[in-house]
Amino acid sequence: MLRTHTCGELNMAHVGLEVTLSGWLQRARDMGGLTFIDLRDRYGITQLVFNLEVNSALCMEARKLGREFVISVKGKVAERSNKNPKMNTGDVEILVEGLSVLNVSKTPPFTIEDHTDGGEELRMKYRYLDLRRNVNRKNLELRHKMGIETRNYLNSKQFLEIETPYLIKSTPEGARDFVVPSRMNAGQFYALPQSPQTFKQLLMVAGYDRYFQIVRCFRDEDLRADRQPEFTQIDCEMAFVTQEDILNTFEGLAKHLFKSVLNIDVADFPRISYDQAMKLYGSDKPDLRFGMTFKELNDLVKGKNFKVFDDAELIVGINATGCSEYSRKQVDELTEFVKRPQVGASGLVYIRYGLDGVIKSSVDKFYTPEDLAAVVTEFTARPGDLILILAGKEEKTRSAMGTLRLEMGKRMNLLQPGDFKPLWVVDFPLLEWDEETRRFYAKHHPFTSPKPEDIQLLDTDAGAVHANAYDLVINGTEIGGGSIRIHNKELQKKMFTVLGFSDEEANEQFGFLMNAFEYGAPPHGGIAFGFDRWSTIFGGGDSIRDYIAFPKNNSGRDVMIDSPSIIKEEQLKELQIRLVK
Ligand code: AMO
Repeated sequence: MLRTHTCGELNMAHVGLEVTLSGWLQRARDMGGLTFIDLRDRYGITQLVFNLEVNSALCMEARKLGREFVISVKGKVAERSNKNPKMNTGDVEILVEGLSVLNVSKTPPFTIEDHTDGGEELRMKYRYLDLRRNVNRKNLELRHKMGIETRNYLNSKQFLEIETPYLIKSTPEGARDFVVPSRMNAGQFYALPQSPQTFKQLLMVAGYDRYFQIVRCFRDEDLRADRQPEFTQIDCEMAFVTQEDILNTFEGLAKHLFKSVLNIDVADFPRISYDQAMKLYGSDKPDLRFGMTFKELNDLVKGKNFKVFDDAELIVGINATGCSEYSRKQVDELTEFVKRPQVGASGLVYIRYGLDGVIKSSVDKFYTPEDLAAVVTEFTARPGDLILILAGKEEKTRSAMGTLRLEMGKRMNLLQPGDFKPLWVVDFPLLEWDEETRRFYAKHHPFTSPKPEDIQLLDTDAGAVHANAYDLVINGTEIGGGSIRIHNKELQKKMFTVLGFSDEEANEQFGFLMNAFEYGAPPHGGIAFGFDRWSTIFGGGDSIRDYIAFPKNNSGRDVMIDSPSIIKEEQLKELQIRLVK
């Protein structure tokens, strides 16, 4: 037997027991006649003791072991004289009687400790060593637990887990596809699914009225902290439901995960319309851990000869409570912050409501004390507050203020870890106009149903049509999104027309779905959650990479296996692919 126990379970109840443990050598210390080794496995660390006086040969052998050697030891559990209350096994140690080296190890390129000396790139290259570290193990354990609890919950609600294909068909909507050449059909390509969207809808037509799948999706898009080229969705679809049924079912899933994984009871999720979210927070994924909602000031501040405001489409402000005593330098920093190209504001106006009750602003030249007092009243500000104002084009200004609001949230320490504020954002617009290509794109995807009362606007004012589409947002991150679908062939055809597809193009790309709608498609809808993102939020992490066992780096490379890579000439030939140099 290579082990009778793990390295994380022995305690005072085991004292006197003869045990065998196996694991990796974390650390060794020689102290006079004694050698101590910390033996590590997935479950914890146990201290081993070798005594020179009791068995000098064994002790000498132990002194030759290096970091990360894989060893197996036999010995007796003993009470420690010097206990370590921080470790589960800290009350005991193993008085080693026998040792076998199961494998040697080169010295690892970085320390396998909670605070390692290895940089990101090096740890990615040796990911299997990085995964030995507690942080990564805890993240993968959390992810596992969330997966199990998701399955438990959905199974209890009669959902069936059904797999859909990975080799599918390339479509022009959404992100870029990853494509796979077909040898048997030379010159033709499969695409890897960006999501199982059309397949889950076909399962509804097939009568599997509650489907889910924890499924890999592939998108060839620019990467960020919350995006990977392959990522995992908890993908769900239901038939014979309204939006209300879907929101309730999946709010149930979210509450179940909060309770079973984090032991947190969360209140019912607020619902905010997309329009409200944009107006109050300048974002369709507002962080509700703090307030600082926007106030629009056009009526109060226009017409006083301050050109910046007079020319602006929108003048909008937030109240940073308790920040009136910000120094000149701090205010300058904020001004620089909003002027960065990523934020894009042209400047920042402030009104200080000093602790002494005096109101001062950066635009005192244009505004009387009464004018400023009116703004202060609008915010119901109090002495000690600082009002920050941006002005300009409507959409851009809202979004810049959204970014400034988050920055102030950070600076004011309002984003507390362990504080979770989920919400539903509902009533998204159906379409989004793109100035560059001068056409509409589906805001969610082309299978999303317009709100019935807005269908007649599709011909006259398509941009004003709202959809039965919703997102789940937690702490400013979009965790999931879905919609009620179109289940009628004519409406689906119409939608493709609005999106600029000819009938032939629509038929070629999505004929299979529209044909299926002619064979008794039930009303249906669904949602998909980003499993990596959800795990990251629950774990309090910054990047989804830390919650994926083998992630890609920011250039989409797996530096451990060195992929993507060139393929052999014969392989290309077989696929009838010639590279253009
Ligand atoms: P959507 O495109 O909104 O919807 O994706 C659903 C959720 O998946 C996550 N996500 C990602 N996570 C990591 N890396 C990425 N590159 C990435 N892209 C998306 C997000 C997002 O909310 N078929 C529809 C769902 C439906 O309508 O049912 C879909 O895929 O958390």
